[in-house]
Amino acid sequence: MSELTPINFTRGVPAVESFPVRDITKAAVAAMLDYGDSLMQYGSALGFLPFREWLANWYGVQPNEVLTTNGSLQLVEFLSYHMIQPGDAVYTESPTYDRTLTLLRRHGATIVGIPLEADGPDMAALEAALKKRVPKFFYISPDFQNPSGSTHSLEKRKRVVELAEQHNFWLVEDAPYRWLRYRGAEQPTLFELARHRVLHMSSFTKIIAPGVRLGYMLGAAEVLAKIAKIAEDTYISPVFVAHGIAYEWCRRGHLPDQIELLKKLYAPRLDACLAALDKYMPDAKPTRPDGGFFISVQLPEGAPTTAVRAAAAKRALNLADGLAFFPNGGGERFLRLPFCALTPAQIDEGIGRLAESVNEVRSK
Ligand SMILES: Cc1ncc(COP(=O)(O)O)c(C=O)c1O
Repeated sequence: MSELTPINFTRGVPAVESFPVRDITKAAVAAMLDYGDSLMQYGSALGFLPFREWLANWYGVQPNEVLTTNGSLQLVEFLSYHMIQPGDAVYTESPTYDRTLTLLRRHGATIVGIPLEADGPDMAALEAALKKRVPKFFYISPDFQNPSGSTHSLEKRKRVVELAEQHNFWLVEDAPYRWLRYRGAEQPTLFELARHRVLHMSSFTKIIAPGVRLGYMLGAAEVLAKIAKIAEDTYISPVFVAHGIAYEWCRRGHLPDQIELLKKLYAPRLDACLAALDKYMPDAKPTRPDGGFFISVQLPEGAPTTAVRAAAAKRALNLADGLAFFPNGGGERFLRLPFCALTPAQIDEGIGRLAESVNEVRSK
């Protein structure tokens, strides 16, 4: 089988062919010629002001309610410095983004995973957890969540906000996939439902490219100022050169077209993934997201992900373990399928190999 071409369903990376290299190059030249001095100098730890103004205008907030950092993961790190003392409780969805778990653990948080259903957190489990211990914050990803692909219903969004108000904890809403809705109606963000209660995070990683290292947070100015102080003590100011280039690209009006281009590229990949699962694994019951980067599958009884991974590796199919996404254990049969960086033909071939691998493990 060594002649098989490798297929990677491992990381949630964007498709290389989506990178707007030509327009970013033009934006880079213009930005450096027009205001290169400001980009080359130290600046505010909150980020490059013209870009914060641009984002503020896009979202309908004030510039001091926008903080930009070198990628959005770093926001989780700074926020953890700001909010967590060792032993403090933090809620996450279960499963959740594994790198956030790593950072929360690094800060000594006691992580309570709230089981995630197809339409958002299990509300009975959330209410039961709140009776035991109120968290500093609930890290939550209501749109096309990494790793499950689930999207929260309006009803659950409203109830989560109500509970946060009632019990007085923060909601940290991580929404880098929200831009990428391929069909269906958009729901309001938690930030739109309760600005004073929510810190909203997003990123240009999935829109322009990871290489610009551009994340941002929207939230109360006084909280952002405190997080910016931690940023300042860490790196003085974020990478203005990269952020200035992204700003110039946005200022030139490329963002809406880029989002449309991504939707046209990725929607058929989502459809191909669902169609292949229906064809090769009709009992799989995958999540059926309307956007984003991920579908997830609960593998059948007798097919733990670790064993399926090993069987898949023999077929040059690379899968990620599901365990790391679960803060308090579980996930033995969980499989995340990031579909954006594969063509529909590769997806069909990959899911075919996955089905063979599952059958091999189950027949042992
Ligand atoms: C939910 C979530 N948050 C944060 C990040 C980190 O993004 P960035 O590249 O902006 O640091 C990712 C990246 O995959 C992600 O999936």
